Amino acid sequence: MRPRDFSLGVCWYPEQWPESDWRRDTERMFDMGITVVRLGEFAWSRLQPARGQWDGDWLRRALDILHESGLRAILGTPGAAPPRWLLDQFPDMLRVDAGGAASAFGSRRFACLAHPGYARACVCVARRMAREFGGHPAVCAWQIDNEYGCHDTAQSWSARAAVLFRRWLCTRYRDIDALNRAWGNAFWSMQYADFAQIEPPRPTPGGSNPAHVLDFHRFWSARTATFNRRQANAVRRHSPGRDVLHDFMGFSTGFDHFALAADLDLAAWNSYPLGFLARHGGGGDNAREKYLRIGDPDHAAFHHDLYRACGRGRFCITEQQPGPVNWAAYNPLPLPGAVRFWTWEAFAHGAEMLSYFRWRQMPRAQEQMHAGLLRPDDRPAPGAAEVAQVARELAALPESAFAPAAPAEVALVFDYQSCWMRDALPHGDAPALATCLAFYAALRRAGVDVDITPPHADFTARRLVVAPLLLAPPEDFAARLQSAGCTALFGARCGSATAEFALADDLPPGNLREALGLTVLRVESLPPTVEAPVAWRGAENRGAAIHWREVIDAHDAQTLATFADGGGAVLVRGGAFYLACRGNAALLDAVVARALRHAGVEAAPPPADVRVRRRGDVAWLFNYGDAPATPHLAGDMILGEAGAIPPGGVLALRRNG
Ligand code: GAL
Repeated sequence: MRPRDFSLGVCWYPEQWPESDWRRDTERMFDMGITVVRLGEFAWSRLQPARGQWDGDWLRRALDILHESGLRAILGTPGAAPPRWLLDQFPDMLRVDAGGAASAFGSRRFACLAHPGYARACVCVARRMAREFGGHPAVCAWQIDNEYGCHDTAQSWSARAAVLFRRWLCTRYRDIDALNRAWGNAFWSMQYADFAQIEPPRPTPGGSNPAHVLDFHRFWSARTATFNRRQANAVRRHSPGRDVLHDFMGFSTGFDHFALAADLDLAAWNSYPLGFLARHGGGGDNAREKYLRIGDPDHAAFHHDLYRACGRGRFCITEQQPGPVNWAAYNPLPLPGAVRFWTWEAFAHGAEMLSYFRWRQMPRAQEQMHAGLLRPDDRPAPGAAEVAQVARELAALPESAFAPAAPAEVALVFDYQSCWMRDALPHGDAPALATCLAFYAALRRAGVDVDITPPHADFTARRLVVAPLLLAPPEDFAARLQSAGCTALFGARCGSATAEFALADDLPPGNLREALGLTVLRVESLPPTVEAPVAWRGAENRGAAIHWREVIDAHDAQTLATFADGGGAVLVRGGAFYLACRGNAALLDAVVARALRHAGVEAAPPPADVRVRRRGDVAWLFNYGDAPATPHLAGDMILGEAGAIPPGGVLALRRNG
């Protein structure tokens, strides 16, 4: 791959099809406008049919054919799907779930990343692939493994994992009393006399100690990064000059993607808008029904912005849904035009490449119901014509349409540790990702561009920094905001925990107290059906609390909006806003509007269900609604149709003047 190179790709598994079909496949890809092919990530048993055997000839022939057809390749290392003989060699390599049940052969992701033999075998096969194919002219990039944590496997409770976890704890705390103090083990007689007594947190009658659960998350997050780094290093050594990426799965927060991506040249993610909506629900009432065939207006964009941050400005889509998936509770057909729509939204957010999953629907095995660009009978599925259309549109647009976006004035802080903390101690709060998405959606409804950042980012270029859920902010967080001189907006529970996962000293918001000028005296969580209305001073009621609300002592802060009992709901001190509850959409819109105004960021709300993203001097508009929408911006049209934007339609406008 080349930076700033906008290309279409497809996932192709030559090992699953007769070799006599390969050339026809690749020539059809080329004719469709595809330039990149992703392959190899599940082909371990074909490369190493038995212990000590290697058969790379077929893959070399496949790469030759790709090259001859004018296509480039992203080659995947196959650790996610180990062959049966490796399990014979290491019967204890199976992943073990929290209840103690070992996984089994007959699928993928069944191995434990903490098993040294399995981890070594992954490095060996990656190194061998890199040696054999690393210099092949078709190979432009490497993908390490496939979706760490997919199928809920981000952690394993195996005996090997327990050993490494103890070692990790020993390095972190040094002596067992320090661990006992940090975890609060005087509670319920949970003290340990030795690190050797500690197990990974398992289901217990009264729930595990949240500090224990958090450390297990931290341990696994670091372990996964190490597992990845060893393969990335091996591949780099033998295939210099090629990009190295990993494909993260949307809606997955089991490990720190920022940390793992530090070892990559760019981040990639897998985008399944209809599967995500079915599985996770969307924003607003009846979202599952309303956006059934196009996806939630903010899900894909949120992940584009998140992975652009993980990749330090560089990201791509390794898998794009081309039709119905097979893995959600229900799997609708996309709206005609949706495949093109999703593709353009990815490019508008800066993706360098977008690859569809998969080329042809595979009529056997686990994913036989998953659509491809071709039907199982080899005829084009509806997505194929849309891909060809995007390819023609891409070719027709001037290079200047893809100028890089300037850093956004608004940054939204996303923190994996807070996701783990919230899950370890939900207390009735909304899921962490949903909370962040709700703030993100409000910013998008205001029509502003957003960059997502990790908590340790430099905020100098920003005007507004939004931290929806940052339970244990880095010690220098408030100081960094202050020296950057930006406005800040914090959501409830920010600063409520210490790094050891105890309640903040002297009550929340802990190390944000001085910046915010308030103390959180009490909190309550609410059933999902209950709304607590919020009234703004000198304005009509705007919005309500849902899920969570706090009782605030606003000693040095000004109260902007209150609950019915007079308690502060929205507070501000200087340029630091605090929302003392989870807000419904109306409340989030109101508080975001205030914060943007204070920050001097111009809001330009698009019509309902339209979303906008700018890069260079081009504004890209996407209509997620089911009715035509009149564009709210003016400019010279470079893509789309004159007049209203149809449902599922895209409009690109170059600002004139
Ligand atoms: C992804 C995975 C692919 C394929 C796809 C089906 O999560 O990376 O290999 O299984 O889902 O939607």
